[in-house]
Amino acid sequence: MCGIVGFTGTKQAAPVLLDGLSKLEYRGYDSAGIAVRDGESETEIIKEKGKLKNLQEMTDNGKAVKGCCGIGHTRWATHGEPSALNAHPHSSDDGNVIAVHNGIIENYQELREKLMKHGYVFHTQTDTEVAVKLIDYYYKKYAPLPIEAIARSMVRIRGSYALCVMFKDYPGEIYCARKDSPMIIGVSGEDTFVASDVPAILKYTRNVYYIGNMEIAKLEQGKATFFTIDSEEIQKPLTEIKWDAKSADKGNFEHFMLKEIYEQPNVIRETIDSVVKDGKISFDTINLTDEEMQQIEQVYIVACGSAYHVGVDLQYVMESLTSLQVRVELASEFRYRKMTLNKKSIVIVISQSGETADTLEALRSAKNQGIKTLGIVNVVGSSIAREADNVFYTQAGPEIAVATTKAYSTQLVAGYLLSLQFAKARNEIEECRYQALLEEIYTIPDKVERILEDKERLQWYSAKLINIGDAFFIGRGIDYAIGLEGSLKLKEISYIHSEAYAAGELKHGPISLIENGTLVISIATQDTLIEKTVSNMAEVKSRGAKLMAVTTAGNYFLEDTAEFTCYIPKIDPLFAGSLSVIPLQLLSYYVSIGKGFDADKPRNLAKSVTVE
Ligand code: AGP
Ligand code: GLU
Repeated sequence: MCGIVGFTGTKQAAPVLLDGLSKLEYRGYDSAGIAVRDGESETEIIKEKGKLKNLQEMTDNGKAVKGCCGIGHTRWATHGEPSALNAHPHSSDDGNVIAVHNGIIENYQELREKLMKHGYVFHTQTDTEVAVKLIDYYYKKYAPLPIEAIARSMVRIRGSYALCVMFKDYPGEIYCARKDSPMIIGVSGEDTFVASDVPAILKYTRNVYYIGNMEIAKLEQGKATFFTIDSEEIQKPLTEIKWDAKSADKGNFEHFMLKEIYEQPNVIRETIDSVVKDGKISFDTINLTDEEMQQIEQVYIVACGSAYHVGVDLQYVMESLTSLQVRVELASEFRYRKMTLNKKSIVIVISQSGETADTLEALRSAKNQGIKTLGIVNVVGSSIAREADNVFYTQAGPEIAVATTKAYSTQLVAGYLLSLQFAKARNEIEECRYQALLEEIYTIPDKVERILEDKERLQWYSAKLINIGDAFFIGRGIDYAIGLEGSLKLKEISYIHSEAYAAGELKHGPISLIENGTLVISIATQDTLIEKTVSNMAEVKSRGAKLMAVTTAGNYFLEDTAEFTCYIPKIDPLFAGSLSVIPLQLLSYYVSIGKGFDADKPRNLAKSVTVE
């Protein structure tokens, strides 16, 4: 997804903007630009297609651009091809209004036609240029007041936006407006910052404001003032970011993805510790009471991508531990379904970024039906975290690599704890089994650690997969859920076509695709289903498949069928997913870098999909 930054203060702005944009590169983009103003002089706009280093070279890392007030943008194109012309910042023709934007102006055509009738000319294919000229229109038509011009534009615009705007008549000031897209504002002494995400400003300040939906901010040197869309001033608390700066740094690892894979034991442990006190799960911080959990009949788990795969796993876990009806839905489908939700239900949305547009809208549609909502979210203060009735924060810390690993694993563990507490609150589990399972959950970090020690074997085997064309992941029950995640990991960073199937489904079509040398990765950790899965492995092997297996220690018989077997330490099958996913993460990473790709920034992908 794109990134926006803004700065006004006592420093030269361009280096601050370029540094901030570099911390947002992980979000994915195709072009970049900055606009900087020196006092009352003309604003200088520099923008280019391609990577940020183009801008860095063009401006000598910002040193060649003078001025203490500016805005910057990394673009992930939605309207108009990636090009220097369509790159942000965009400007009104007379330079009166200059802005950067993250999001989509859905009604940009009708607004464009309206503005053209008033003499406006458009030079780019972007929706953002329409927003800029709409603000300019209102500024000139009603009153030369930035807040009013922006507020009027917000009333007319449909869509999503995190906007940073500079007005020619107001040097040294930046105006921000937010609807659905992420935005955070920071202050430090005489300096004020705005960005899409914390890493862009963490180097300068930990003191931030969370601008709400449909709110406007006026940024001056060392000061931020907030307004409603009715131009009424509102007070906001200053929040301190708790992250440590090294979290947003690769350290001794070649890629963030590998660093984050190795952070999993610690962040899983921290996530457990965040809700387990003295051997008991306590949801006081989540304010979901036992009484509420007793009243719930139906659980809907809603998410996208890997977060959705967490839901697929948790459905098996929750159904196994409770009498709850559990449905898992893709957020992009859920939000448009004509489905009447059970009034005695809870919608659990899972999101690392807390900004995924489809998941956010799914949350809103559930709330519109009066359904209780819970967010399992990693980014504090994100839109989903603020709009869900209750929040279970995972403790993964900043996840920079586009392909999620540590956030996924902490979401899984959060779901285990939630499932276990639901069972206890509903008197659907014996105390001894509750304690036994809680102890099993506590063994996950050490067991992940042990698997990570085995990385050399996976590195060796991944070298054999560099040139494969297709891969199939098969499993049953929780193993199927992990197959979905393993398949996504492989395809999203190595670009190898990969599919995941419930192993029992192979005979209903997919097995026709198996031919000599086709890679099939079988996940087989569920005791009650393993014999069936082994039969499926034999079926594909007899048709020439190249078989890899991920199974629990002790199941050595799989080596009769698989050419390469990874073992995970013994654990209750309910939680095996936390372990069996680890070899698949490592395998994908090594295949990706073996093919010479940047595992942290896979093509076409964004870390947080904040547009539909
Ligand atoms: C997974 O590796 C991808 N980065 C993607 O599927 C991601 O899980 C999905 O976009 C959901 O993101 P979220 O957790 O921030 O909502
Ligand atoms: N919709 C705008 C464009 O295509 C902004 C996209 C983004 O969020 O980067 O330029």
